[in-house]
Amino acid sequence: MRHDAAARAAQLRAQIAHHNRQYHELDRPEISDADYDALMGELRALEREHPELLTPDSPTQRVGAAPSGKFAKVRHAVPMLSLANAFAAEDVAGFLDRVRRFLKLEAAEPIELTAEPKIDGLSLSLRYERGVLVRGATRGDGTEGEDVTANVRRVSDIPAKMHGRGKPGVCEIRGEVYMTRAAFLKLNEEQSAAGRTVFANPRNSAAGSLRQLDPEVTASRPLRFLAYAWGEMSELPAASQWDMLHWLNARGFHTNPLSRLCRSLEELLAFHHGIELERARLDYDIDGVVYKVNRLDWQRRLGFAGRDPRWALAHKFPAQKAVTVVNAIELQVGRTGALTPVAKLAPVNVGGVVVSNATLHNEDYIRELDVRIGDTVTVQRAGDVIPQVLGVVLERRPREADPFRFPKSCPCPLATAVVREVTATGEAGAVSRCSGELACPHQRIEHLRHFVSRRAFDIEGLGEKQINLFYENGWIAEPADIFTLEARNDASIKLQEHEGFGETSVRKLFEAIRARRTISLERFIFSLGVRHVGETTARALARGYGTYPAFREACRHLAEGNAEARQELDAMDQIGDTVIASLTAYFSESHNTGRVDQLAAQVRILAAERPATESPITGKTLVFTGRLERMTRDEAKALAERLGAAVSGSVSKKTDLVVAGPEAGSKLTKAQELGVQVLDEGAFLELVGESPRK
Ligand code: IVH
Repeated sequence: MRHDAAARAAQLRAQIAHHNRQYHELDRPEISDADYDALMGELRALEREHPELLTPDSPTQRVGAAPSGKFAKVRHAVPMLSLANAFAAEDVAGFLDRVRRFLKLEAAEPIELTAEPKIDGLSLSLRYERGVLVRGATRGDGTEGEDVTANVRRVSDIPAKMHGRGKPGVCEIRGEVYMTRAAFLKLNEEQSAAGRTVFANPRNSAAGSLRQLDPEVTASRPLRFLAYAWGEMSELPAASQWDMLHWLNARGFHTNPLSRLCRSLEELLAFHHGIELERARLDYDIDGVVYKVNRLDWQRRLGFAGRDPRWALAHKFPAQKAVTVVNAIELQVGRTGALTPVAKLAPVNVGGVVVSNATLHNEDYIRELDVRIGDTVTVQRAGDVIPQVLGVVLERRPREADPFRFPKSCPCPLATAVVREVTATGEAGAVSRCSGELACPHQRIEHLRHFVSRRAFDIEGLGEKQINLFYENGWIAEPADIFTLEARNDASIKLQEHEGFGETSVRKLFEAIRARRTISLERFIFSLGVRHVGETTARALARGYGTYPAFREACRHLAEGNAEARQELDAMDQIGDTVIASLTAYFSESHNTGRVDQLAAQVRILAAERPATESPITGKTLVFTGRLERMTRDEAKALAERLGAAVSGSVSKKTDLVVAGPEAGSKLTKAQELGVQVLDEGAFLELVGESPRK
């Protein structure tokens, strides 16, 4: 008998391994979830009966690791960034001024820029090795996207092999996947006839069509691809954006034939105007025009400010508007207790999207517009921003409509008092807040939602719906509870017996949670939901402190009022008084620190990643002083940061290097007193391997 059991267990393990691969790696499941569960169930029963057969690598024992979502994750070799937005001509002028100032260009020196229509699709990165397509990945959060290789291979606009002679080592081609309006309408007709999902707009239908588990479905959808950028390249085949577009074209990629090379603000604005007039006649959706500094050496010098390149700008078209009726005004409680009034609208189509909620921002905004329930209002949608109420059509106001009275208590069961925020200068702020903090169930739930969100712990299968359910049932009250859920499940919760859950989904959920027991320091810090500590700040803190113990220790000192801890934080890039005050307040509350420590005990927090480029100044703290002649102060700072150094404004014993130009004063003296290394600008550029420029 025992022999039979051993043979059957081995057979089951092989079958399960095969189906895991079909499901997770190939997007091609061959059996239903129920059949898969049956195999796992049989194996588990066998192992229970014959514990001696249990092996550590049995699929029943596997923890984490397996990609939890629909697609495997892919780390982008070069992050996929976003673009700063502008709406007004002055913003475009401001952008050109900043470029000029940053590069220290003479007023007479022309700046060439490409102007490209901004297609409204989803961005995609295609990796070619020796000219052959090896991977396609979506943008995801910019750092990590989804592996959609199998699907990308079925898009006819995407060449499997790059055209032309020569096989460059690595080329990551980036661009937009989109669907024409005609194809979108036709697809929706077919979908609706077949009783399937109808898409809201061409963008959604392109995204939905690309992210299909079955590549056959993707192949049946008329997706298009336009190339406009690149990621990792073993060598750059051109020196300008314009020539790169031509190169992309010669290599077999479509590029937008409407793109132009411009040499002045006037030319940019004329192009924008022309495209706006053309917009309705185009067969695809665009939401603006993208300007890019043409010279790639200038792009490199300009670098990035946060997530946006300094060398590019998205000049959006004005928002689209519509008129509808306010049926109700509700208050939404945010993670930090901020109350946002939301107008519940009679659904209306605004530029292709059905809108039924619009933000009213705050109490003052409602008072100024005098929006009342029953009013007819104009609403607008601008790009990705939440729809807003712009104004009231007074002649349509119903006679019985009363002015709206902003509630004095939170809509939560505690009905805690609503308080108007007081700003740092003592004036009344615009924001109203529920004073309940984490005693307010809305805030607790928002906090948990933030915790599992894509940019924080990103736990697949744990979305708003599940958080609400788990919270209401008392299974989780705070983040650390998520990680003890599995242990408590067998004893008491028994999630698999609740409606909407099956053995497979419960197994996947716990797998996803386990996979997140290891987390980067920046995600961990961001997930805490400390006010004013967004993603960029969290990253800066993670880089600044390096490890979790260092961060935690520093926050403890901060809360104790330690001046040195404050100074250290102040010297970090991108950290100012607001963040310091917020961190101090947060870590001064024992209920916060208790939650943080409990959470930290459940997870393994990885040390911060080193910046991409290793250089002689990586990890060092630099101070620039005196006049710089070959670059501007901003440029110097950006260069140092790009190479992984922190730039500080004052010299202390923690300073590693001072770069001093002519007219350097007290900082240079201090550096000499402390014995800190001092270099002039030329020596600094040589040290970091930047070729001297004029
Ligand atoms: S360049 C670092 N060029 O707009 C610069 N983006 O708002 C990367 N987009 O994520 C983007 N047309 O999905 C660039 N000609 C174009 C574009 C374009 C559309 C999209 C793209 C990007 C988003 C940024």
